[in-house]
Amino acid sequence: MKNYLIVLFALLLGVSCGETPEKAPPAIAGKTWWKEAVIYQLYPRSFKDSDGDGVGDLNGIIQELDYLQSLGITAIWLNPIYSSPNADNGYDVSDYRGIMEEFGTMSDFDRMLQGMHERGIRLIMDIVVNHSSEEHPWFLSARSSRDSPYRDYYHWWPAEKGVPPYRYSLFDATGNAWKFDSVTNAYYLHYFSAQQPDLKWENPEVRQEVYDIMTFWAEKGVDGFRLDAFQFAAKDTTYPEFPEGFEKDFIQYYAMQDGLHGYLKEMNREVLSRYDVMSVSEGAGRNFEDAHMLVDADREELDMAYAFEGVDIPKYEGYDLDTMKEVFGRWDAEFATQGWLSIFLANHDQARMVSRWGDDRPEFRDASASLLNTFILSMRGTPYCYYGDELGMTNMDMDSISEYNDIAAINGYEKARSEGADMAAFMERLNFTSRDNGRTPMQWTDGPHAGFTTGEPWLPVNENKDRINVARQDTLPGSVLNHFRKLTRLRRESDVLIYGAYELVDAGNPDIYAYTRSLGDEQVLVLLNFSSEAAGYSLPGSLVPGNRLIDNYDPDAMAPLDAGTLRPWQAVICKLGR
Ligand code: GLC
Repeated sequence: MKNYLIVLFALLLGVSCGETPEKAPPAIAGKTWWKEAVIYQLYPRSFKDSDGDGVGDLNGIIQELDYLQSLGITAIWLNPIYSSPNADNGYDVSDYRGIMEEFGTMSDFDRMLQGMHERGIRLIMDIVVNHSSEEHPWFLSARSSRDSPYRDYYHWWPAEKGVPPYRYSLFDATGNAWKFDSVTNAYYLHYFSAQQPDLKWENPEVRQEVYDIMTFWAEKGVDGFRLDAFQFAAKDTTYPEFPEGFEKDFIQYYAMQDGLHGYLKEMNREVLSRYDVMSVSEGAGRNFEDAHMLVDADREELDMAYAFEGVDIPKYEGYDLDTMKEVFGRWDAEFATQGWLSIFLANHDQARMVSRWGDDRPEFRDASASLLNTFILSMRGTPYCYYGDELGMTNMDMDSISEYNDIAAINGYEKARSEGADMAAFMERLNFTSRDNGRTPMQWTDGPHAGFTTGEPWLPVNENKDRINVARQDTLPGSVLNHFRKLTRLRRESDVLIYGAYELVDAGNPDIYAYTRSLGDEQVLVLLNFSSEAAGYSLPGSLVPGNRLIDNYDPDAMAPLDAGTLRPWQAVICKLGR
């Protein structure tokens, strides 16, 4: 509402100052801060360690608040910082109102939040409530006796009924999501690891607990919630048999089951609608209809979702640009007039962006990292930029399973071995795809441990810290970092990049991804060469590239491009017409 009033006021002001009405910016329907936000995903374990224990912490974030502000981001999504035994790096919560000891205290949190707000940065918390930790007091009580008041907070299958219908676990070393627990002679359900028992959302007491937890954080002043794995929360508690092989397409059986929308409407009523907070779902369901039902404004559920189809495109074998154009174009078209999405190419569940989507060889690394950032910040949808990608941080080389930390990698290895897989091939793929690649310590300097810690880092620092680090890039005008800063400024200042319609041009070009964004009279052209060779493009006669707004090869150039070709991984946003 406030935003509409501001637009109205600005329009009136423009007219009363004698400007012609044509020059007034177009009124934009559905304008909100979270559509305009530039979100930075901060993985706290790896960002900055202030006390030398090798693990990033909240005081480390506080030390770097000025850096965060200098990036021009407007919100931070913080991965979980709650008390946790860390079976899955904080995605196994044992106290939803407590801060993980390694990360600091609640007063550190309060200072961090205040420091962010003072710098115009909002904070989005990760809410992990499809499951808790097995060490959460609810589960400790639930597993102790069938009569526990918390028994019904989780999914149980009494062993006297025989073996439960097969459920697939994403992280378990045996692949089975039911774990037998001898204390009460029953199986409990865990879609992720056995240390992450699924909460039973069908129980209204569980739901109320979660709303109370969210209210606790909203009252502290946080600005949003990312709902972890929430599309899996509703379950058919008769636990029917699923067809053999269902796990190959498990999303169809696990996501968006009956009841889920009701829970979200209730959450919206109980919490989300009462605060100025944004909400984002991890996962956008099984199809477009599901996605719209999650995020369309009239549904009164969530604000946005992130769909995985885009981020899943690059495989170990590579990817082709046609697929990328087709997938991003299809999602954009589907949400052009209703609903809102996120744009991202990486997160903590992926290997590094530049290694998957770009070319991380030294000669192309910087250009391709900057190109990918240009893509994220010039598409429609709220951009999510993953820590380190503003520097072009790359994958690691980890040859032996003993170097890995991630439960998904370690249990995946065990599972593959017990199934007799080709382990050399498995390790080669893991080296490229592992989530550990995306979790290595932030590279601040070329000093010991990249300035991340004075102790032993919990995960090795990438050897390329000497070239890829904040201190060095800060001083270079054309660095990935300074390009990123320019991009966020451009994005924040141009409604056309936020709200403008997206249209693909030179559609069949195998190397260049070109598109326009248009809003009212304003139009910009984005030209991205997704290849390590120079490549040509052709534009319809109506589109003449004008002055450059940003160019990753020539940071100061404003003049129009020399028409027709782009250099390897060159990324340009320009006005149209001379
Ligand atoms: C989500 C998180 C991932 C975590 C999983 C289980 O997919 O992004 O990191 O392992 O949920 O909580």
